[in-house]
Amino acid sequence: MSSPNSSIESVLVENRVFPPSDAVVKAARISGMAGYEALCAEADKDFEGFWARLARENLQWTKPFTRTLDESNAPFFQWFADGELNASANCLDRHIGTATENKTAIIFEADDGAVTRITYKELLARVSQFANALKAHGVEKGDRVLIYMPMTIEGVIAMQACARIGATHSVVFGGFSAKAVHERVIDAGAVAIITANYQMRGGKELPLKAIIDEALATGGCDTVRNVFVYERTPTACNMVEGRDKTFAQALAGQSTDCPPVAVGAEHPLFILYTSGSTGKPKGVQHSTGGYLLWAKLTMDWTFDLRPDDIFWCTADIGWITGHTYVTYGPLAAGATQIIFEGIPTFPNAGRFWQMIERHKCSIFYTAPTAIRSLIKAAEGDAAVHPARSDLSSLRILGSVGEPINPEAWMWYYKHVGGERCPIVDTFWQTETGGHVITPLPGATPLVPGSCTLPLPGITAAIVDETGNDVANGAGGILVIKRPWPSMIRTIWNDPERFKKSYFPEELKGYYLAGDGAVRSADRGYFRITGRIDDVLNVSGHRMGTMEIESALVSKTDLVAEAAVVGRPDDLTGEAICAFVVLKRSRPTGEEAKQIANELRNWVAKEIGPIAKPKDIRFGDNLPKTRSGKIMRRLLRSIAKGEAITQDTSTLENPAILDQLSQTN
Ligand code: WTA
Repeated sequence: MSSPNSSIESVLVENRVFPPSDAVVKAARISGMAGYEALCAEADKDFEGFWARLARENLQWTKPFTRTLDESNAPFFQWFADGELNASANCLDRHIGTATENKTAIIFEADDGAVTRITYKELLARVSQFANALKAHGVEKGDRVLIYMPMTIEGVIAMQACARIGATHSVVFGGFSAKAVHERVIDAGAVAIITANYQMRGGKELPLKAIIDEALATGGCDTVRNVFVYERTPTACNMVEGRDKTFAQALAGQSTDCPPVAVGAEHPLFILYTSGSTGKPKGVQHSTGGYLLWAKLTMDWTFDLRPDDIFWCTADIGWITGHTYVTYGPLAAGATQIIFEGIPTFPNAGRFWQMIERHKCSIFYTAPTAIRSLIKAAEGDAAVHPARSDLSSLRILGSVGEPINPEAWMWYYKHVGGERCPIVDTFWQTETGGHVITPLPGATPLVPGSCTLPLPGITAAIVDETGNDVANGAGGILVIKRPWPSMIRTIWNDPERFKKSYFPEELKGYYLAGDGAVRSADRGYFRITGRIDDVLNVSGHRMGTMEIESALVSKTDLVAEAAVVGRPDDLTGEAICAFVVLKRSRPTGEEAKQIANELRNWVAKEIGPIAKPKDIRFGDNLPKTRSGKIMRRLLRSIAKGEAITQDTSTLENPAILDQLSQTN
C-alpha cells in the first residue's frame, strides 16, 4: 500500500470515472442523472412540499401532520411537528398483513458461525413482549434507557422495544469503559439499562454486565431502577437482587402483543453520544418522524433497495451507522438484513467474503478501515482473498465513516464488486442522521475517493469563514444551508452548545459539519478532506483530542500535561499521537516504553481500547507560544515525521521540537 501522502496526491489527480452500466440505470429506482436532477428540481421548487410528499408516502402516521417545517425558533427546527407516529410500528407493524410479514427480517451470524433467522412477524412479537417487560418495570414514554449490548438480534429488539413505548434509548458501544457508561447514565438520566452478561468477540468472552456494575457502583446513578441482562453465554454474572433481571425473568408471563405508543414527530427517538471538540461527549438528540423518514428513504435511494435484496451493514449498533442502517432503515424498508457478531478477522480474514457467499448478500456496506485491513490480509494469504468466495450475489457496495483512498476503492471495486457493482461512498455524520452526500447507484458516475453529490433536498455547500460560497476547486468549510428532516435536534441537556457547535453566527445560520471539503472543477463533486476541528477519525470512529487529553491528565500521579493530535495512518486512516509531560523527569529507552504502555492502558480504562494512543512521546515541555498556547500545528508535523517548515518565531521554547521529534 502506498503512503497517505501519495494517496492524497492520487486523489488530486483522480480522473477515472465509472458510470453505471445501462442495465443498472434502467433497473434503478432513481434512474440516471435525469432521475436525480428531477428530484433536486422538485426540492428546489417547493422545498416543504417535497419533504411533505416524501413524509406522507414513506411513513405511516397515526395523526397526519399539517405543518411541514417550523423555522420560527431556528436553529431548533421542527419537522412535521403536529403529526404523530410510532417508529417501531413503522418498522414492524406496517409489514403485517403484507407479503413481508413472513419474510426474514434478520439473518444473524454469531461469532462461532451459528446462524439464526427471524421473520418480521416473529420480530414484532419479540419486540412487543420486551416492550411489555419494560412497561411492567415502570418504563414510560419519555424515559431514557441506556443500552449496552453486543451485536445480536436482542440488541435490535431492545432498541425497537424502547421506541415502541416512546422511551428514548441511548446506546453505548460495547467497547466503551465503565467511566464512559457512568457519564452517559448520568447525563441522560437513564431509568433502566439493557445489557448482556458477556459479548463474544473473536472466540473470546468479554464482560459487559461487570462494566455496568462498575459504572453503577461509581455513584450518582440513582435514576437507574432496573438492569435487564440478556444471557448471551451460559457463564454466570453478578446479579443484584431487586435491581437486575435476566431477559428470561423479565419476559416471563409477558404478552407478545403491545400496542405501539403514538408520539409526536419531534419526540426524541434516541440520544447518541459522540465526540466533539471539548472533553465532554455530546448527546446528539434525534427526532422520531424526520429521522425515520430519512432512514427509510435513504435505503431506497442510496441502496436502491429491492424486495429480494439481502442487505448487510457491518456497523455496530453502538454507532450511528448501526442505528440508521441496522435497527431502523432496513426494517422500515422491509429488507432482509444480515447482522454479524464478532470481528472481520475471526475465524479468519475471509469472513466477510465467506458470509457474503453463505447468505447471498446483494448490498454490502462497510468502512474503509475494514477494507484496508482485509486488503492487507488478502495480500498476505490467498486463502482469505475475496477471489476464494463466490461474490456473484453482490450488486451494490457501500463505504462509510471516513474518506476512502482511491487505492482501496479500486481494490473494493475490482476484487469485491467484480467491476460490476457501483460503490456508494456515503458521507454523513451522527448529527445528520443518515446519508447527506453520496452517489446514487443507478445514476451517478463514480469517481474513486469522492462522495460525489448531495442527496435531493440536501443543500450542501462549501463556504469560506464568512459563509460565502467558494469556487469549485478551492477548498473550504462544508455546510448545509437549509435544515433537513433527519438533522440533530439539539444536544441533550445543552442547547447552548448545540447552537455554538453547529450554527456559529459567522456562517449565516448554516449547519457546520466540522469537515473540510473541496468540489471538483469539472463535475462539482465533493471530496471530504477531513475534520477541521479537534476531532480525530480513527478506524472510522470519532475521537475528541480533548477527551484523550483529559483522560491522560487524569492520571494525576504521573502526568503533568498532555497534547493529542492525529497523524495519517495507512490502515486506520488516522492514528492518535500523544505528547506527554510527566511530573517526573523525562523517561527514555525501556522505561519510556513501559510508561507509554501504562498510559495506553489507562486511556483504555478511562474511555475504551479504541482511544489508546498509537504513539506516545515524552518531553520536558510542550511547544507553546509566549502566551502559553500549545502550538498543535507543530505537533501535527512532528507526529507525521515532517520537517518543520512553519514559522516558529512565536515559540517560547524552540529546543523542545528536537526533543519531541525523537521516537522512543
Ligand atoms: C467522517 C459516521 C469522508 C467525517 C457516519 C464525518 C467521512 C465523520 C465519510 C462523522 C465519507 C463519514 N467520506 N469522511 N464517506 N463518512 N466521514 O459521526 O469526518 O461517526 O464528519 O458518523 O466521519 O463520523 P460519525
